[in-house]
Amino acid sequence: MDKESAEVVVTVEGKVCVLRLNRPKMKNALSLQVYNKFMETLDKVGNDPNISIMVVTGTGDYFSSGNEFSMKGFEKLSENENESSDSGSETSFDDQVAKGNNEFKRFIDKLIDFPKPLIAVVNGPAVGVAVTMLPHFDVVFASDKATFHTPFVTLALVPEGCSSYLFPMIMGPGMAAQMLMFGKKITATEAYQHNFITEVVPNEKLDDVWTKISNWANLPPNTLVVIKNIIRLHQKETLHEINAKECEVLGGRFKDPEFFEAIMKFFTRKSKL
Ligand code: COA
Repeated sequence: MDKESAEVVVTVEGKVCVLRLNRPKMKNALSLQVYNKFMETLDKVGNDPNISIMVVTGTGDYFSSGNEFSMKGFEKLSENENESSDSGSETSFDDQVAKGNNEFKRFIDKLIDFPKPLIAVVNGPAVGVAVTMLPHFDVVFASDKATFHTPFVTLALVPEGCSSYLFPMIMGPGMAAQMLMFGKKITATEAYQHNFITEVVPNEKLDDVWTKISNWANLPPNTLVVIKNIIRLHQKETLHEINAKECEVLGGRFKDPEFFEAIMKFFTRKSKL
């Protein structure tokens, strides 16, 4: 297995594979390269008989700021949209949106189907998909410095990662609506109180969780897979359907002028989230 790439570091210690989001200057934003490496690692670990557990964490003060916004990418998208509407041809813009959406859908599908215990060590704030992916993890340890923020409305986007279904189920409809509709940012303690994470750990003690994880990795590996499967089996089909529906709705949002306005605001730093 690869040891390192620029934006993601993958290491194996004993029976534990650790994927470390490694773009601290960018608050560990998830680029296409990160998504690809993440998916490749899920596939490899899922099929590697020598690895029992996969862990995801981040380098630096953030767990992850979610999807990367690239000015270049949005200028291109915007140009293509204008060209499409001028020429009457829709293909370019629609193709680009569909391609990005398919990759994202594939990523969530892989999380839904990942067969082995998946653990997050949330070392700091998590934003967007870095939050919505967490219900697909079996155990989430979070530093007391972590926060959880899904500011979809500010960006004219919609809930993804099956959060439209899983958040109300996990934390109750009221808190889910506050987070998903109104962009409420919650602390690690609030996330724990609403069953969203497994444990809040004082930041200076976060390293202690690694001992626990490596002990778990010595449990019988086939049995861990069978237990995870029986816990998650009943929801898999529903989650794939929800993922597909959310991605379809998300695709439509990229055409809304409110979306371009929100992105331009981010890049011109008129408003921080
Ligand atoms: N996409 C692209 N760039 C990002 C990013 C992202 N998701 N998150 C952070 N960055 C970049 C910033 O643009 C900045 O780049 P610069 O140094 O070239 O200006 C750098 O990372 C550091 O971030 P900065 O904003 O200066 O740090 P901060 O502590 O003031 O704020 C955040 C951190 C995460 C609150 C802020 O960067 C932010 O709101 N990012 C967008 C998060 C987001 O909306 N994600 C998707 C949700 S659906």
